[in-house]
Amino acid sequence: MKVIASHNGLVAAQRAFERMKAGVAPLDAVVEGVEIIEDDAEETTVGYGGIPNEEGVVELDAAVMDGKTHRGAGVAALQRVRHPSQVARLLMEQTNRVLLVGEGALKFARANGFVEENLLTEHARQVWLHWKRTRSQIDDWRAPLPESVDPKVKKWFDVHFRGPAGHGKIGTIHVSALSPSGDLACCTSTSGHAFKLPGRVGDSPILGAGLYADNDVGSCGSIGHGEANLENVTSFAAIELLRSGRSPQEAGLEMLRRIATKTRPDQLDAHGRPKFNLWLYVLAKDGTHAGVTMHGPKQYALAEEKGARLEKCVALYE
Ligand code: GLY
Repeated sequence: MKVIASHNGLVAAQRAFERMKAGVAPLDAVVEGVEIIEDDAEETTVGYGGIPNEEGVVELDAAVMDGKTHRGAGVAALQRVRHPSQVARLLMEQTNRVLLVGEGALKFARANGFVEENLLTEHARQVWLHWKRTRSQIDDWRAPLPESVDPKVKKWFDVHFRGPAGHGKIGTIHVSALSPSGDLACCTSTSGHAFKLPGRVGDSPILGAGLYADNDVGSCGSIGHGEANLENVTSFAAIELLRSGRSPQEAGLEMLRRIATKTRPDQLDAHGRPKFNLWLYVLAKDGTHAGVTMHGPKQYALAEEKGARLEKCVALYE
């Protein structure tokens, strides 16, 4: 029995592990883990408290996949519901559909009794407003005086926009689980790129891109620059590499290498490496696992019988 998760998912991995230990199915366990992060207002890349789109509206994407039944579903650009992972699981369990977006996803959630609420926290609104006021000198907005900027807002930009352009506007939670009976399941949930175009959908709710599970082989999920994952169907391809005999680390690194070679020139730095970042988490049927990242160092979460901890990701570019 094992659970792996993105770096921000230590408590999620721990919860999923405990729930499986108590006999809960891996799909339910991973969703329960992800829910903790969706509820966390301090996590500004997932669920409640996520940074909004360019119009100041929080739009969430999430998907689940169950290895045992090989069924999965996703919801995208969902507004006003803090647990898109639960909505995706319900879509999988109660309908014959695999993907719902926007108003349709909200109507489905509403019909199933999900509570609607404002997901934009005061902090996220302040971050968004700061972005609006500072992004251009040829619009109506005037930049705030540096001394008037809330230190928490300044810190958010320092943390999320450090490094090469585009590195930091991203985040997400992914959790993959292997149950005591050898069944696999996974879940990915995100508020997507900060300040994204309204209606923009990333990789997280798309089976094969942001996550994929095949009970015969393994489970994989990703966080980071979703468009690169969408163009390379990364999670599916990583599982296919596992099927052909590669280890989780080899499969993950091979996919990052493939993405790097296909990256368009304007997204490459002076060394010819992608400016964006991408992390893959691969859990094989035999319990071996890896976290890989385009640029190091980073960590991923692991929960197993001897406890939960952060492990080092292997970087394609150190
Ligand atoms: N990987 C999350 C996103 O691009 O939306």
